[in-house]
Amino acid sequence: MRHMIDPLDFSTEEVLALLDLADDMRQFPQKYQDVCARKKLATLFYEPSTRTRLSFEAAMLNLGGSVLGFSSADSSSASKGESVADTIRVISCYADICAMRHPKEGAPLRASRFSRIPVINAGDGGHQHPTQTLTDLMTIRSRKGRLDHLTIGLCGDLKFGRTVHSLIKSISRFEGIRFVLISPDELRVPDYIINEVLKPGNIPFEETTSLEKALPQLDILYMTRVQKERFFNEEDYIRLKDSYILTEEKMRLAPNDMAVLHPLPRVNEIALGVDNDPRAAYFEQVQNGVYVRQALIMTLLGLTV
Ligand code: CP
Repeated sequence: MRHMIDPLDFSTEEVLALLDLADDMRQFPQKYQDVCARKKLATLFYEPSTRTRLSFEAAMLNLGGSVLGFSSADSSSASKGESVADTIRVISCYADICAMRHPKEGAPLRASRFSRIPVINAGDGGHQHPTQTLTDLMTIRSRKGRLDHLTIGLCGDLKFGRTVHSLIKSISRFEGIRFVLISPDELRVPDYIINEVLKPGNIPFEETTSLEKALPQLDILYMTRVQKERFFNEEDYIRLKDSYILTEEKMRLAPNDMAVLHPLPRVNEIALGVDNDPRAAYFEQVQNGVYVRQALIMTLLGLTV
């Protein structure tokens, strides 16, 4: 039995196979409509979500399966003190596979150790979000035609943004990747990403506070929201939340074939006018999130058509 807890749990070949399967699912949805008949997905969400939870549910429904679950810790027995280990033992009696989001880093990993069903990390604290990364990779590949030899700008909250950490870990395995890390000093990418991923892999990167200076060199711009829920005091959040706002004017500095991604939700960091720019790929990214989750569910359940 396999889980997906970390973006590196699947090799690059396996990731590419997942993306190929997701592409096929996008083109030929009817081929897959019954592949998960009589299978159940449990969504265990201890933290708020719109996209991840609902795209997992849509994915399972598209495959002919069923869904059950909870969307907040308050509506589960976690509010009475039940541990993640006990919860997953119980859920293993009800479902065939589960997706778990939890505010504590490492909670899905702990769950996987007590589980009798595949566990998918749907976001753990400020740590990792591997299925968002699959979504990002599918979108990058469909926009650029490749996952190698790209200059990728990551902008905003690089400290708490788990999607950033997972994307760096995953796409660094492809050749010729270069990062431009754009953030205020206080929200720089964590040291462990630099010391355990970028430096050992000899991945070129530069850190800057200027979005304007970075824009002309980018193939991909990955915007992120400042993660209010991870701040210890509101004053710091208010001071930093509008550090970067991508506007139509700033987009004039970017190459014509750059793609703008954002894991969403957006707060203020992309002006609404940018949505009409053909380089805006963030709603396409949302749609791709359903296909990659379909591909992942099918793969982890060992199903074929
Ligand atoms: N991208 C993402 O994780 O969005 P949600 O928090 O709405 O699931």
